[in-house]
Amino acid sequence: MAIEWDGPTGCFLLTGGGFSYAFAVDRAGTPLRHLHWGGPIGPDDLAAIADPATRLGSNTWSRPRAHTEELVVHGGTRFDECVLKVEFRDGVRALDLAYQGADATGDRLAVRLRDRHRPLAVTLYYEVRGSALCRWLEVTNAGEEPLVLDRAGSAGWVLPWQERPRVTTLSGGYAAESRVTRGDLVPGRLVLESRRGIPGHAHQPWLAVDGGAGEEHGEVWSIAVAHSGSWKLVAELSGDGRVHVVAGLNDFDLRHELAPGARAVLPETVGVYAPDGYDELTARWHRYEREHVLPRPDELRPVLYNSWEATFFDVRHDDQVDLARQAAGLGVELFVVDDGWFVGRTGEGAGLGDWSADPAKLPDGLARLSAAVREQGMRFGVWVEPESVSPASELFRNHPDWIYRWPDREPHRIRESYGLDFGLPAVREWAVETLDHLVREAGVDFLKWDLNRSLVDQGSRGEGTVWLDHVAGFHEVVDRLREAHPGLWLETCASGGGRADLASLARFELAWPSDNTDALERLDIQEGYAFVHSPQTMSCWVTDSPGHLTRRSVPLRFRFHVAMTGMLGVGGNLTAWSPRERAEAAGYVAQYKEIRETVQLGRLHRLGSPRHGERFALCYVAADGAQVAIFVFARAVRQNTQDRPVRLRGLDEAAGYEDPATGRRYSGAFLRYHGLPVALAGDHASELIVLRRTDHRPR
Ligand code: GLA
Repeated sequence: MAIEWDGPTGCFLLTGGGFSYAFAVDRAGTPLRHLHWGGPIGPDDLAAIADPATRLGSNTWSRPRAHTEELVVHGGTRFDECVLKVEFRDGVRALDLAYQGADATGDRLAVRLRDRHRPLAVTLYYEVRGSALCRWLEVTNAGEEPLVLDRAGSAGWVLPWQERPRVTTLSGGYAAESRVTRGDLVPGRLVLESRRGIPGHAHQPWLAVDGGAGEEHGEVWSIAVAHSGSWKLVAELSGDGRVHVVAGLNDFDLRHELAPGARAVLPETVGVYAPDGYDELTARWHRYEREHVLPRPDELRPVLYNSWEATFFDVRHDDQVDLARQAAGLGVELFVVDDGWFVGRTGEGAGLGDWSADPAKLPDGLARLSAAVREQGMRFGVWVEPESVSPASELFRNHPDWIYRWPDREPHRIRESYGLDFGLPAVREWAVETLDHLVREAGVDFLKWDLNRSLVDQGSRGEGTVWLDHVAGFHEVVDRLREAHPGLWLETCASGGGRADLASLARFELAWPSDNTDALERLDIQEGYAFVHSPQTMSCWVTDSPGHLTRRSVPLRFRFHVAMTGMLGVGGNLTAWSPRERAEAAGYVAQYKEIRETVQLGRLHRLGSPRHGERFALCYVAADGAQVAIFVFARAVRQNTQDRPVRLRGLDEAAGYEDPATGRRYSGAFLRYHGLPVALAGDHASELIVLRRTDHRPR
């Protein structure tokens, strides 16, 4: 039973895969008391934790404390970070909620609260999805007058007391996204957020807290905001060592008006608990994405080619056909023409909005290029940026009123473009029609959907709600397009990894984690991306050496091995590669196809980290345990570390494993406790070892 109600104690007990969550209806005043989030407990335990005598005292004047409440609102004697703040028409800003009842349907629980003084209703939603718990809020204005939401978080997550809480985030910036960052949580508030209208590059909308966990030990609690716009996570550590995390929409410039009778359904937040460290936590997040988020979770992602770094804006029919021929020779299955193919797009300054082929570059049109690519046995994809418009485009000339702008000043250009108001129904219609036409007429199997700007100049339409409408419009257009073209695949991108949130990943088969394709830097970025996101969504290209951003030279082998740890792609100028390099590359692509099911759908174990030392490994174990792919990387190999064995995880200790390349056989126990011998030498050294499980233990 996922959801149980225990009448005598007045408690709800939610049970998922490997966790329990409990709270009580508090007859004393605060409507709901938080009781437990962590390892599984049973209904018999509720009497002990529901006993008010076991509640922690307060060491400040904030009452009740955030960590004792299931939903912290603004009002009363509360000073801790709140989830919800409302302003009524007459200026009253206090909420005083009372419990009304609850409905459970399957794995979902809806708990109804209502203000004691004003016609405002709040429903707390809980949904058990495997080993994850999803929580969000619905706020309804049941009155006759409009009201304003000043803060509209989706949930407050209470974590158990820790001796010394640490926080892990996936942080960085443009071309340096998603780096695993860990440190002590100090008393006060840690704010992770995006105010940009997109999830942004500074952090993944995610954090984890532990009390000293490692890869294989210790409890970890983690929370994500599933929202494709501005989000916020506030982790508040009180003086008595309790952590409360407010998660949901960003309140930066948020004044969301709720008309009489209107309701706001706020974004989902997702909580995942792991009892045994970060290895298990990652597995639970991957499983959550595969079982509850991703489209086509069981379909293997194709080997992709992308033209960006090969031709940049200079897209020409003959060059692309040459690239396509080389890509097909390598074993590529999907050929994507990036930016530069549409009318007037000679650089950043023009073209966005006019989504038809540039006759100067593609005189025979996009359909002809698509046909040429398909003749090579590959699927065909193109890059689009539907939410931006160039000032020099026909679209902007015809519809200057479709962009975000304040009425009395010039709109801001970012990457020389304006933002299209996806809140407007006319803009959504235009986007659906234009993309539908593009996909249908040109024979497009795949769209890389980019957004190279933050959203600014919100305009005067509906104070503060513009960015919510934008996200709703973005989702609507993508959903309608997918519905009209069930065979279409999509990649999410915002100048690299600026929009790889769970709500986007529910609509896109893959994500572009970063514009930085330098294999060495990619190790850190990919470590962070795959920390929570399934590797099947992690698009990775092998590009030229030296790379265009860092000018670092890295051997082809190392570049391939790094890209093979996710969804392999190629993004170099293949026509400039030597026949030898192309032959070597074809070998890696063929090898990848032999292990891709294991990499994309298996279980990932991190053996060390690029953050710690020069050498580390990634081990992928197939879902059925039959194949194991081990990637070993070393930025530089020192003399005394050349032969260091790699101790594997996730293997059956009683089973035998064979390396068909060498004929060597090992026991699972040997690989776990002694380690796989791997000799590396030199700089940028890497090795891929593929083991096959054998039925009997080797002698
Ligand atoms: C963004 C993307 C790149 C590429 C360019 C094209 O920066 O992240 O991959 O598509 O736009 O302009």
